[in-house]
Amino acid sequence: MASTLFLTLVCVSWLFSTIWVNAVPFSPAQLSHTKRQVVNENEVYRAHLYLADKVFLDLEDLLDSPDLDSCQMCRQGMRIAQTFSRQAPEFVPGMLRELCAKYAFKRLDACAGLMERLGPQLVGIFSEMNVDGSDGYYTCAYSFPGSCPVPLHQPKPIQFPKPKPTDAVQPPPSGETIQVLHFSDWHLDPLYKPGTEAKCSHNICCRDYGIWNDPGLIKKPASKWGEGKCDTPIALGLSALEAIQKFVPNATFGLFTGDIASHDSWMITEKYIADLETTSYELFKKYLLDLKLYVAMGNHDSYPSDQAPGKMRPNSYITHKWLYDHVAGIWEKNNWITSVEAEHARSNNAMFMTRPMPGLKLITLNTDLYYVRNFFTMLDTDQDDPNGLFHDLILELQDSEDRNERVWIMGHMAPVTRTLPKASILFQRIVARYSPHVIAGIFTGHYHQDKFIVVHDPDAKEQTKESAINVVYQGPSVTPRDRSNPAIRWYDIDAKTFSVVNTHTAIADVIDQATYWEANDMEPEWFLEYSGRETYDDPDTPLGVNEPLSPGFWHHAVNRMRKHRHLFKTYLKYESKSSEEAKHCRKGSACEMEVLCQMEASTVIQHEICTLRASNLHGTKKKQTKYKKGFFGLTRAGKTIQVQDYSVQRGIIGDDNTELEDLEAVAPLLQKQRLGDFRDDL
Ligand SMILES: *[C@@H]1O[C@H](CO)[C@@H](O)[C@H](O)[C@H]1NC(C)=O
Repeated sequence: MASTLFLTLVCVSWLFSTIWVNAVPFSPAQLSHTKRQVVNENEVYRAHLYLADKVFLDLEDLLDSPDLDSCQMCRQGMRIAQTFSRQAPEFVPGMLRELCAKYAFKRLDACAGLMERLGPQLVGIFSEMNVDGSDGYYTCAYSFPGSCPVPLHQPKPIQFPKPKPTDAVQPPPSGETIQVLHFSDWHLDPLYKPGTEAKCSHNICCRDYGIWNDPGLIKKPASKWGEGKCDTPIALGLSALEAIQKFVPNATFGLFTGDIASHDSWMITEKYIADLETTSYELFKKYLLDLKLYVAMGNHDSYPSDQAPGKMRPNSYITHKWLYDHVAGIWEKNNWITSVEAEHARSNNAMFMTRPMPGLKLITLNTDLYYVRNFFTMLDTDQDDPNGLFHDLILELQDSEDRNERVWIMGHMAPVTRTLPKASILFQRIVARYSPHVIAGIFTGHYHQDKFIVVHDPDAKEQTKESAINVVYQGPSVTPRDRSNPAIRWYDIDAKTFSVVNTHTAIADVIDQATYWEANDMEPEWFLEYSGRETYDDPDTPLGVNEPLSPGFWHHAVNRMRKHRHLFKTYLKYESKSSEEAKHCRKGSACEMEVLCQMEASTVIQHEICTLRASNLHGTKKKQTKYKKGFFGLTRAGKTIQVQDYSVQRGIIGDDNTELEDLEAVAPLLQKQRLGDFRDDL
């Protein structure tokens, strides 16, 4: 025991003094040399060091305790983390990094860098969290996948300010159209370096990682124009902006649905994020001239990545306010939003409302507020709407209904995966209440693919043309990361009703052609890939001349994809932006079924049920989830407590248990997916 203690002590000191200095070679400002210098001088510090050591041993003991299941183990770990955060906060980041080293969660540099960045914030979150209540439980379920089952609590019914009008219909088309630009997931990488390894083991490649470069010869040198495992080089970013000038010079206004920064969450600094935002928005302004561009914050637009405290927690909010001040200031200076709107954005997580044209209100959402990688969402989990996000959304929608005005909602992520299930259900119910008469369009990004999601009335017994009440247009990314070509998108919009009349996507075949262009001294060739109306209109029942692409139109398109294999293959091709990486779903396969089902799944639970049904119907044996050894309950992932037990015990789940059987069956799948998420940082 004494020798273990000694070894751990040595280990802790060593970690502080050497390896972490190397772990983050590009951000020396992040390193805290000062603490190391006072180690032998400061009594309190030594006491805390001792505590850190004890915590480490307690955690080890916990992992060895034979009587606890994985969830109990994790929850006990949360209690230890809380005590430690309250008593020795300055040691929490070091402890987290040590756990990275011990359990090798990710690449060591990535894990340690992330912990360095998240550590100080996690101290605050752990200190305030109700660890014995649902907060601790949610944290286990989402942050230590496989420990506790993912909770599937239903939110309470919403009390809307007014009942839905009985005559809620879309206004008739005006016959006039305007064009609106939409681009997303820019992910500019200023450290992109042609000639470096394009097939590395990092989250993004095409960089010189110094001592963290992969050993051996370069397998594929990065081209000048981008690569499928890399973020957007400046050259490609400018080419995309030129493509916008070429294809949409007459746009009335534009939407950018978030994610300015590169994917190296473990290396970023506040200054890096702020500078990249300044530079990118300046570039947009320079290329788009007087075009008004409306921006929603993505999960990579914050420091640390994914994190956003809600305004209901003023002590945390104040530590992130610099970011909202920063971006709102640029948007205001660029004349994209007014000073009143910018002021609203500063105190509302960079969210604002504006009227791009008379009769249209645009509401932006900061979707980190329901993103499970945002640790602030693990606080106040017993509440349905802890940040007031949905409360504010409802008031804005009600205001527009009263004014007989149409609304667009834009945000980075549609709340369909990687979202707290309660938030996703609330969003669906709100959309249903204010569709089709108020909400004319929902625009998002995040997944990099070019997709649409039909939202159905949650009360409908089955999905029909009539139950389809809205559509989420999930725009494609500029970044070619995930081996998908860069794309830009624009819409023909009814000038009076603001319904979507057509969609157009233009791409450049970076994945296949980048090396060729470079060798031949050519620029990327952008071309119109497809238009939604022409691709999906049914020749047997064609749309009227000015008729918009209604939710029913998209529902019908999905039905036709079920019948016509060629149409489904067309969808898959465009989803991947005509990249070779396109999913190859065989005819009649579980994959085909899952993709088709998910096009009309607008909540986390519906989405998972698609996966479940596809695998069940095809007798695919559910794979036993394999977890990495170590860390809290992960070694014992086989044992999970029943979701139902917990819900009843906590009394959180609503009265509506109709889908409970489905929900329980889905829980293990959700966990499997969460583990995937952990590796796949979009
Ligand atoms: C933009 O508008 C101008 C002037 O009306 C027109 O000549 C031009 O063809 C339009 N460009 C595109 C790409 O629609």
